[in-house]
Amino acid sequence: TKKIIMDCDPGHDDAIAIILAAARTELDILGITTVSGNAEIEKTTWNALKICDLVGLKDVTVSKGASQPLVRLRETAPDIHGDSGLDGPALPEPSRGWSGEHGADSIIRLVQEAKEPVTLLATGPLTNVALALTKANDINENIEEIVLMGGGTFGNWTPTAEFNIWADPEAARKVFESGIPITVMGLDITHQALATPAIIERVNKIDNDVAQIVGELLAFFASTYKEMFDFNGAPVHDVLTVAYCIAPELFTMKDVNIAVETKGEFTAGTTLVDLHGVTGRTINAKFGTGLDVAGFWALMIEALKKY
Ligand code: BDR
Ligand code: CA
Repeated sequence: TKKIIMDCDPGHDDAIAIILAAARTELDILGITTVSGNAEIEKTTWNALKICDLVGLKDVTVSKGASQPLVRLRETAPDIHGDSGLDGPALPEPSRGWSGEHGADSIIRLVQEAKEPVTLLATGPLTNVALALTKANDINENIEEIVLMGGGTFGNWTPTAEFNIWADPEAARKVFESGIPITVMGLDITHQALATPAIIERVNKIDNDVAQIVGELLAFFASTYKEMFDFNGAPVHDVLTVAYCIAPELFTMKDVNIAVETKGEFTAGTTLVDLHGVTGRTINAKFGTGLDVAGFWALMIEALKKY
């Protein structure tokens, strides 16, 4: 089994990422840490706890992390995820609270305690990850890989910046310069994983509570994507990080250098993905370019049927 830590800001697609991970026995979730992003930290943490209840992750600790970016002002995304960060389905209040440990400390402890290298899945702004790497500079060697959703060769929050990187560019820069192997699911690939009405119908046909909730999450997410971007469905961005850990053969990846703009007048939070090697900078990331779309949805549907 692959040992994973999920650092997230649920968030519809973060929630579905947890649901997919919990369905698969080859992934061992060591802990969930939350960050401010799609909504304020209390909300994203509450949402993570609700999803844990939904899928029966009773023993996985949920630790509340950073309430704001390293240096910038906090901005959330209620237009996309609703005021709660997870609008749509009526989920019961969580049966338990978050742990007393800060999310960044939790990442450090889980990595240090693990007997084998850990894969870190990061699907929100990278604040917790950057804090952990700063506070404990010896954990790098026990992190096998950071698989993150963020960036791309175009933007969704500004014309050139994607939300997770834009929300905390200084943190993202720290992560990309860490030397840890980084796998990036950026908008170029996550926009290929579009939950269209046809996909949502397939999900709705699965006769169990978890699939029904996922159907409601996707319906809400698709409605805001229609409104904001005129998309015919919702890209399930964050879910690709989990799918990659389960079935990397579904993904076409390219070795590239990625730099993060932290200063630009118009371009803060932009990832400069050097697809053609024009900068001569050292390769620091695997960047997702192509997805086996049918294979991805088959994996997702099969996982939901297990509930
Ligand atoms: C990213 O931002 C959030 O809205 C999603 O959860 C995803 O992590 C997409 O830009
Ligand atoms: Ca997210």
